[in-house]
Order: sequence, then structure tokens, then C-alpha cells
Amino acid sequence: MANEVVDGSNKIVRKVNLAKPMITQEDIDGVVAVLKSGWLSLGPKITEFENNFAAKIGAKYAIGVNSGTSGLHLCIKALGIGKGDEVITSPFSFVASSNCALYEGAKPVFVDVKEETFNLDVNLIEAAITERTRAIVVPHIFGQSCDMTRLMEIARERNLYVIEDACESILAKHSGKNLGTFGDVSVFAFYPNKQMTTGEGGMILTDNKQIADLCRSLTNQGRSNNMQWLTHDKLGYNYRLDEMSASLGVTQFSRIDSTVSSRQTLAALYGHLLSGTHGLVLPSAMNRNELSWFVYPIRVPAQIRDQFLSFLHSRGVAAKAYFFPCIHMQPYFQRDFGYSLGDFPVAEKLSFETVVIPFYPQMQVDEVDQVVQAVKAALAELLPVRL
Ligand SMILES: Cc1ncc(COP(=O)(O)O)c(C=O)c1O
Repeated sequence: MANEVVDGSNKIVRKVNLAKPMITQEDIDGVVAVLKSGWLSLGPKITEFENNFAAKIGAKYAIGVNSGTSGLHLCIKALGIGKGDEVITSPFSFVASSNCALYEGAKPVFVDVKEETFNLDVNLIEAAITERTRAIVVPHIFGQSCDMTRLMEIARERNLYVIEDACESILAKHSGKNLGTFGDVSVFAFYPNKQMTTGEGGMILTDNKQIADLCRSLTNQGRSNNMQWLTHDKLGYNYRLDEMSASLGVTQFSRIDSTVSSRQTLAALYGHLLSGTHGLVLPSAMNRNELSWFVYPIRVPAQIRDQFLSFLHSRGVAAKAYFFPCIHMQPYFQRDFGYSLGDFPVAEKLSFETVVIPFYPQMQVDEVDQVVQAVKAALAELLPVRL
């Protein structure tokens, strides 16, 4: 069967997925109601989703988009960043946080990360600033952040925009303040592996009316609010979020506190069951950060990472090297910018060591047990001698 696998000792074991969206009857009823209404785009659901999102996360304006990537692209565009400009960002992230600059002809300039947080090392930012630097695109990886207090001080001192890539960090906090409310503009994402989902989808958040109006217009083919349907005053895109997705957004977002808290409970359980395992580094929240758990990233010695993954797969446990490779080591970054191994040693170390394991709040106790046993057995077999 597709959800089972034969393990090393010829036993049939169940497959445990890496992620699973949590879809309730309320979600299904909401989407069906939209379908029955016949109003499938630019309707009341997107407005409701945007209003609820802005109010809860804490910003004046929210603009729904059809993906986190679209949202990031529009932030770069709305801030007028383009050819010849540089943006400072992290090499340990999903490619979209750098691609958004490339789309507009700007150059991503990488700064290495801190091992403890997987996020930007703010002490390295100032050395990377040049007269071409316009913004910092700061990804909040794995649901926690860098030292956003210091990063904002640097940005204000040096007159740089801050775009927060909060795609993995809904309701995570730094110093008690929601991520996505520090910078000039921020973006959230709702792909099915995220804390909440709309299928595909994202949200731009800002307190700045000019940025908000521009993003909304660019999302909708360059139309302004009061313009006729076939008049466009600028080059825009179709990055709209449809009404079925927005309905899913409304119901999923109404449960976000309990979702984030169930994920916290699962992370604590993994932490308890895996702590003290020889060869394993477990994730933890840094000072002043309150995590919103996106994945559960564990670290194993780089020399055994691939064998570790194969072992887990053979036990029916899904697992992935994450983020591997780093952005600067992606083939097109190496080719176009000449990056090579050794350029960002901390990001590379994390990239070679980090593995994500199954993580979703509906995980059954016996599934958690299967994962934990597989992780321990893998390390016992692959690390017979103390490193
Ligand atoms: C850090 C980060 N940025 C951007 C994105 C892009 O979001 P989307 O897949 O919705 O385009 C993701 C999604 O995985 C992400 O993790």
C-alpha cells in the first residue's frame, strides 16, 4: 500500500508524512458555500480574511496574494527597488526571499546566519552595506527571528527599508511583538505545509498606505481603486487570491491560536523524547523569541546526514535535508554570482546538518513514537563511536 513501506527487517511499517494540512468540516463548508454563491473572485471573503489578519497580527493594511513569492515580489516592486540596487538577505532560506530581488534586477547580498537561530547574524549586516543597499529582506526561518530590535536600529540609522519574510512565522514573536510588524512591509504564506493553509496563498502586511495601495493595485493588473476594469495606469500582475482560498483563510485563521499552540505541544513532546540523544542537536527558542513552530529541525553530524535520511525513509519516516543547498549554492547563484562553498560557513554548516522530521498537530502518539524510535535507532547505528 502507498501509505506503508517494508523496513530493513522485512516488516511492513506505516509511512509517516512530513506535513499534513489540518482541514476541518468548517473549512469544507466555507469553501462549498463560496462555490454555491457563484462569487469566486474579488468578493467578500478576501476582504474578511484581510481585515481579520491585519487586526490580529497588528497592522493597518493587509493585501491577500496568491503566494508568498508574489507578495515578496510586490514588496520589492512597491519600494521601487530595481536594477543596480542591492538588498541584504540570508543565504539560509527558501529561494523566494532572494528571487524577489532578482525579478526586479536587484542583487541579493548575503550575510551569514547565527547557528542558534538559523537566522541573520545582525552583527554582520553593517559590513555588507554599500551605497547601493536599499533594503534588508529578513527571512524569519523556522518560525523564529534574528535580533529584530538591533536589525531595526541598523536599518533606521542607515536609511534602509526592511521587508520581513514572515512566510514561516505566523504569530511568532520577538520581544513580545509579532513578527511581521517590525519592518516597512511583511509577507506571510499559506502553502499546505505552513501553520495554516489556503492551498496556495499569501498576505502582505503594512502600516504604510502608499505601499498598501500600490501592492493592491499591482496584485490586480495595475488597476487603481477607482479605475474601470479595462483601464490600467501601470504594469501590474494577476496575483489575486480567489474567494475559495480566502474562505479557507478565514476559517483556518480563526483557529490559528489553537493551531500554533498544538504545534508548540508537539515540539515540546519531541524535545522531551529526543533530548540527550547522542549526536543530535535539537532546536530551541533564543532569548526574546517566542517560536511559532513551522517544521521540527534537528541537526545530525554532516558526515552521516544522507545515511540518516535513508535510514529514516526505510523505517517509513519522511525526512528532508532543509535548507539544502543554501541559496548561494543553488546552481544559478553559483553560475551568475560566482559563489562557492566557504562563502557563508555557518549557513553551510546548518545546511549540511539540518534535517526536518514529520511535524503536524494531528500526529498520533504512535506516529511520534515511530519517528523518535527511528531517529534514535539511526543514530545508534550510524554513530557507534562517540564523535
Ligand atoms: C521563507 C520563505 N519565503 C518565501 C516562501 C514562498 O512562499 P510561497 O511558496 O507561498 O510562494 C516560503 C515558502 O515556503 C518560505 O518558506
